[in-house]
Amino acid sequence: MKLDDRLLKTHPCPCTSTRVNYNDRMGVQAIEVKNLTKVYSNDFKAVDDISFAVNEGEFFGFLGPNGAGKSTTMRVLSTLLKPTAGEITIAGFKLGPQDDEIRGSIGFAMQGVTLDDMASAWENLLLIGNLYGMTKQETQSRAGELLNILNLEKVADSWVKNYSGGMKRRLDLAAVLMHHPHILFLDEPTEGLDPAARRVIWDYLRDLNKQGTTMFLTTHFMQEADELCERLSIIDNGKIIITDTPANLKKEADGSLDDVFIHFTGHGIRDEDVSNKGVDPYVRS
Ligand SMILES: Nc1ncnc2c1ncn2[C@@H]1O[C@H](COP(=O)(O)OP(=O)(O)OP(=O)(O)O)[C@@H](O)[C@H]1O
Ligand SMILES: [Mg+2]
Repeated sequence: MKLDDRLLKTHPCPCTSTRVNYNDRMGVQAIEVKNLTKVYSNDFKAVDDISFAVNEGEFFGFLGPNGAGKSTTMRVLSTLLKPTAGEITIAGFKLGPQDDEIRGSIGFAMQGVTLDDMASAWENLLLIGNLYGMTKQETQSRAGELLNILNLEKVADSWVKNYSGGMKRRLDLAAVLMHHPHILFLDEPTEGLDPAARRVIWDYLRDLNKQGTTMFLTTHFMQEADELCERLSIIDNGKIIITDTPANLKKEADGSLDDVFIHFTGHGIRDEDVSNKGVDPYVRS
């Protein structure tokens, strides 16, 4: 089933503390990153002085080898990790002093499925509505709407642990859409899915984007990047190497996006050093 107008209407954020009037935000860049650096507590520099901007309504992507710094960048932009340096604006709000407003404006589908396996889809969505400060009525109506649109109505009361990978991913998407986010961060949203299930997610994302949701995606599927993204940044060793449209990148590398990837990163697979790596907790405030 295609996304319909019920999903696509622009709503104010239901969280009273972060109510956002998006009409006031017209013409504002959705994401603006200036000189972002992230050094983990073990002195490992995962992101090294990157700058880029994503326009309102754009479908933007990060491509890069394992360990390039893609998820780290997303975690910082979504307020889960504190940057070491840099100036970041998301939906017109300053990262740091306006983290609450940013959280009200974005949805973040993290790498890997993050929902509670021992609960139903319905229970997961009610919990998320509650976390976002939505009223019971708003939560129930939005959860019902999303389960319907994402074709999960029939399994809404079954435990998530019994779902297929595609169903879990669709539920992940429903969860991040609960509060009508203006910007979506999608960290490998179709990882582990078969080609048909991947295509279903692509169609949903494309439809959402057409209606104005700004998309920031990371992927290892070159076809996904090619089909969905208007512009791509190639990132390696924490640095952005080039940003351009898929068409221009392919022209530059004289080949496919696979060739682009190899051309700009100089390798296919990175053997990462995982010794002595500490773990930085996410921001909990
Ligand atoms: N909490 C942490 N503490 C220390 N180092 C970390 C931490 N989290 C990630 N790293 C390291 O930072 C680097 C970038 O990791 P990140 O997860 O951002 O890469 P990625 O581009 O998303 O890779 P992938 O494509 O495999 O998802 C890697 O070398 C990783 O091992
Ligand atoms: Mg990652």
